[in-house]
Amino acid sequence: SVNQRVDSVMRLMTLDEKIGQLNQYSGREVTGPLVKQNANMLNDIKLGRVGSMLNVQGVKNTRQVQEVAMQSRLKIPLLFGMDVIHGYKTIFPVPLAESATWDMDLIGLSAHIAAKEAAAVGLHWTFAPMVDIARDPRWGRIMEGAGEDTYLGNEIAKARIIGFQGKKLGGLDAVMACAKHFAAYGAVSSGRDYNDVEMSDHQLWETYLPPFKAAVDAGAATFMSSFNTLNGVPAAASDYLQRDILKGKWNYSGFVVSDWGSIDQMIKWGYVADKKEAALKAILSGCDMDMMSYSYLEHLKDLVSSKKVSVKIIDDAVKRILAKKFELGLFDDPYRFCSEEREKAELNNPEHVNATLKVAQKSIVLLKNQDAVLPIKQSVKTIALIGPLGDSKRDMQGAWAGANDADRVVTLLKGLQQKLGNNVRINFVKGASIKTNDTTGIAEAVKIAKDADLVIMALGEAYDMSGESRSRADIGLPGKQNELFNAVQATGKPVVAVLMAGRPLTFNQIADKAKAVVYAWFLGDQAGNAIADVLTGKMNPSGKLPVTFPRSVGQIPLTYNDYKTGHPYNANVFQYQTGYIDVPNSPLYAFGYGLSYTTYKYADLKLSNTTMDKKGVITASFNLTNTGTTAGEEVVQLYVHDPVASVVQPTKKLKGFQKVALSPGESKTISFTISNETLAFYNQQLKWDSEPGKFKIMIGGSSDKLELQADMELK
Ligand code: IFM
Repeated sequence: SVNQRVDSVMRLMTLDEKIGQLNQYSGREVTGPLVKQNANMLNDIKLGRVGSMLNVQGVKNTRQVQEVAMQSRLKIPLLFGMDVIHGYKTIFPVPLAESATWDMDLIGLSAHIAAKEAAAVGLHWTFAPMVDIARDPRWGRIMEGAGEDTYLGNEIAKARIIGFQGKKLGGLDAVMACAKHFAAYGAVSSGRDYNDVEMSDHQLWETYLPPFKAAVDAGAATFMSSFNTLNGVPAAASDYLQRDILKGKWNYSGFVVSDWGSIDQMIKWGYVADKKEAALKAILSGCDMDMMSYSYLEHLKDLVSSKKVSVKIIDDAVKRILAKKFELGLFDDPYRFCSEEREKAELNNPEHVNATLKVAQKSIVLLKNQDAVLPIKQSVKTIALIGPLGDSKRDMQGAWAGANDADRVVTLLKGLQQKLGNNVRINFVKGASIKTNDTTGIAEAVKIAKDADLVIMALGEAYDMSGESRSRADIGLPGKQNELFNAVQATGKPVVAVLMAGRPLTFNQIADKAKAVVYAWFLGDQAGNAIADVLTGKMNPSGKLPVTFPRSVGQIPLTYNDYKTGHPYNANVFQYQTGYIDVPNSPLYAFGYGLSYTTYKYADLKLSNTTMDKKGVITASFNLTNTGTTAGEEVVQLYVHDPVASVVQPTKKLKGFQKVALSPGESKTISFTISNETLAFYNQQLKWDSEPGKFKIMIGGSSDKLELQADMELK
């Protein structure tokens, strides 16, 4: 068994060699021209002082570095890891965009292809998925996750982990996943990256921990601790998170890696006086591998000699890491992921291009379509494409874009030209830039708008304005893009706004004045084709928002599942109600919202029973009909509400969804099962349980439009 094989290696290991397994270096520098300057790193590998490398990629490089490990006394293979977040060479939509598909098969497929490519270039491990619930669009890393909702986040965490790893580790088309960042990183104060997190246990358990538990259940091989403190304790030093919850209550058998330098950063936090103490806190609290702080390498031996750390603790960490190396088959063949043939084939696999196109098409969310201006009509003969993102390649790939090749990107201009051919003239000008306040292009933009039958404006953020350390205090359109929009819109020509970003932006004016608004996120290599497919009607949009879009930064955090309060909101009353005096409480666009070129009718909700006990189930069924003339896919959503509970409950909580395909005129009966699990919550004792009483069941196509409602009772 793996355990016996691990033990047989452990028996041969010196304490130094054991500590070496807990050390991870970044190896951007150990391959290529810098090899010589980094002789020390390579020497450390030869001495058995390194267990894993990050950022060494490519068959040639990983083989070269693994060969050095094979010169070490025990020939323990290295693990090669990298941030393969939404594709390695073939770039898929950013994770938040993919989450808008609500399609677990597609999300799994995207992760699987990313893993296949990563595994083909010698990698064993991706630092993904990020399963942090994120409710603050100022935080740049909202781009890397599944959005604001815990239930949706759980489902997406599972799909991504199984997509990356396959059902069982060891396949040559799979890599280890890493559920990150443990925990509550998405709730950093003020949306400012790397900041502290102050959070009640109740909130932590109810909202932020479940996707991590889902990751454990899906078999995530590794976890990464987060950069933030949680209630005053750096996550990498948190006994509560790592020992009590993860390795204790959840009985997790994989290993935990710190985030980059975060053990050392405990000094900067003011949590420990020096690096030795940092190493002590981290290892005792269950952080198994040190990413790039050298703390373990420099201090663990001393800490063992002075009896501050037991060999048992070191052994436990080493065992967890070696077990993964065995499961990956690296002890049998350390080069099994190093095949140049596979590398060449997988990085140029045309099926991967088709897959990213499909995911991109379904990630698009249609937010507004006044007078059915979309899909583009036959009568449109001249289009003005205006905006800094109209012909941009690199931006389409978003942040953390693996080993991207910007030349693979199909821009919106290219996509439209390909789809519309010679029948339609397309004039393009940027009109503004994203990162400057230059207004000189506006006049030219107005000129081509005046000559057009339809204006398409490609506006938004640059790719490097979301992602790690890319928090923004103002999430509006940067530069002079609003001025550009206003000038173009003033021509009176119909404007379709295509917005691209790694987060929800605020764009009230555009939402008000554009005829149509298409939210296109950063869609990856096939962005232009996917958007053109939606604009021309080849693809009926089916994306739904995985996160609330606020009207104003001042509303943040704004989620669909807020509370009622003792002073309920009343738009008609000025005083003593929960609200702002300058903006409504409602979002610009709600969680779960997204339009289609067709229409759906929700009708005939029936509950199989109106009462149940905790062991029972109720089936909620209804009819969904495509009442338009276009085939489409609708994401039907089930929400519940517990109106009286010992812990005040949100006005609604997502508890189920299905993506349903319907041809024009077609009806289907859709069913959801309601069980105790659907109704339970963490009570004051932090026990997951339900409470007898009445519940409201709500079903619809958006969290703010739940046309089917029924009451039931739990006995
Ligand atoms: O995986 C990442 C993490 O999400 C942020 N800091 C760096 C790590 C490795 O690149």
